[in-house]
Amino acid sequence: MSNFDQIVQLIADDLAAVEARLTEETASEYSFVDMAVQHVVEGGGKRLRPILVVLSAKVCGYAGSDAHTLAAVVELIHVASLVHDDVLDEAAIRRGRETLHAKWGNKVAVLVGDYLHARVLSMLVSRRADDPAMAILADTTQAMCEGEVIHAYKSGDFDISEAEYLKIISFKTGKLITASCTLGAHLGTTDPKQIEALTVYGQQIGTAFQIVDDVLDFAENPDKLGKNTFGDLREGKLTFPIIYARSVCNEDEKQMLEKVLNPNTDETEAIAFVESLFQRYGVENYCLKVAQGYADRAKAALAILPQTDARLALQQLADYVVSRES
Ligand code: FPP
Ligand code: MG
Repeated sequence: MSNFDQIVQLIADDLAAVEARLTEETASEYSFVDMAVQHVVEGGGKRLRPILVVLSAKVCGYAGSDAHTLAAVVELIHVASLVHDDVLDEAAIRRGRETLHAKWGNKVAVLVGDYLHARVLSMLVSRRADDPAMAILADTTQAMCEGEVIHAYKSGDFDISEAEYLKIISFKTGKLITASCTLGAHLGTTDPKQIEALTVYGQQIGTAFQIVDDVLDFAENPDKLGKNTFGDLREGKLTFPIIYARSVCNEDEKQMLEKVLNPNTDETEAIAFVESLFQRYGVENYCLKVAQGYADRAKAALAILPQTDARLALQQLADYVVSRES
């Protein structure tokens, strides 16, 4: 059994409770709304963010059911953001299923994303008013939107720097992963050192997660990945591997790279060129090494937390984020 499966098994009861929350909280009495919403809410995903909430709460000594509500909340924010992201990226497949906009059109996809946000607000207001979750999630959602807007705005900028890109991904992906850990920590402790440790852990694995996501876009097996490959390339999106390749290749290759990132270039030609460039400069290895650096810093941040199964699971999860194939 893989480490990830063992982690899932360790908190299987919690995850079952989260699934139940997800289903009951998103149900609509209108059958088409319900069908469209359940298409994206049920199954398919790894539930990484809920796992982080549950483990972060546990490692800080919390064992109550509020972790399930917050885990469902962060997953719904994530699902809503993916539904909208797939509209922006014109992606056809997500979590092994046809995307919502591909199946029912942009209008339905935008509105289902909005519906999920409305459910999130409703779940949050039904909780304690003095709880930090509202402020953390308001800030998180804002940063995710800002990250996506800046990424979209910068999408034609061939000269975007690695530092600028890392900042964007810390917003669009890192913030919700970080919030998942911080929220879990708040459930179990008021000790600022423990909360900070889990926040740093989340920030580091968030960046590692997106770097690996960028690498997986060039993966060989779309079925395993649950979404189409080469989507970023097709869109001319500069991601971490491309930014690195651009910084190490020669002038001719750089010009060619800029050319193949133009969505009008023949796709087969673009893929062949980028694959050979990646091979020549060891791009995948470099990216995975950088991602592992983030994972290692994430693990180091856990050192001040009690040595429990939950802490061990968080350590393993950091490595899984880098070694995953989907
Ligand atoms: C996937 O990135 C997308 C995100 C991590 C964030 C999406 C955020 C928004 C659409 C902003 C709106 C957010 C809310 C909460 C309303 P990707 O395209 O690099 O990854 P992919 O390959 O999985 O699509
Ligand atoms: Mg996308």
